[in-house]
Amino acid sequence: MKFFVDTANLDQIREAQNLGVLDGVTTNPSLMAKEGITGRENILQHYVDICDIVDGDVSAEVIAIDFDGMVKEGTELANLHSQIVVKLPMIKEGIKAAKYFSDKGIKTNVTLVFSAGQALLAAKAGATYVSPFIGRLDDVSTDGLHLIAEIRQIYDNYGYETQILAASVRHTMHIIDCAKIGADVMTGPLSSIEGLLNHPLTDIGLAKFLEDYKKGN
Ligand code: G3P
Repeated sequence: MKFFVDTANLDQIREAQNLGVLDGVTTNPSLMAKEGITGRENILQHYVDICDIVDGDVSAEVIAIDFDGMVKEGTELANLHSQIVVKLPMIKEGIKAAKYFSDKGIKTNVTLVFSAGQALLAAKAGATYVSPFIGRLDDVSTDGLHLIAEIRQIYDNYGYETQILAASVRHTMHIIDCAKIGADVMTGPLSSIEGLLNHPLTDIGLAKFLEDYKKGN
């Protein structure tokens, strides 16, 4: 399972990279705004800065919602750095753009996916990644993990190579459940990944080992 962090915060990305288990980064316009990154030039530079920190794919989202605009913007993003994945919204024009970029060998991530049908279309368009938002489904009393399982089944039935990128991951149990179902990738806050480290018996056991060592040395 690949681990991505879902942030535009360079300190958090550095910290995740230093942990040694990071496979990529996802961003979106809200996450960029949260870091105060505004203006086209600054946004483009920020993507390059992220690529320089992380070894792996970095999703950069288009703002355009028409096909020509998505192609123009996506091409500019893809030309920024070899690690950039063009992130496209799950709308009709986004699917057309995913097919366009897929035919050109440019990686894509179809985002804002909330149903199995949307995920099927993204796979047919040749998307590299599909991003079902599990946390936002949970927020509206709908089982986000069930959607991951549905997409896994559909993709396996036909051998689609599109990778299921479980997005809007909010906590550590989401990661474990997604791993059990077979999501290819998870993206979430660094805290959700670091939560995997914790077990009180590890802390108690380590304290005892150190205490016993000190007795004999
Ligand atoms: O990767 C999708 C993500 O950015 C949305 O997460 O927590 O805002 O639902 P959230």
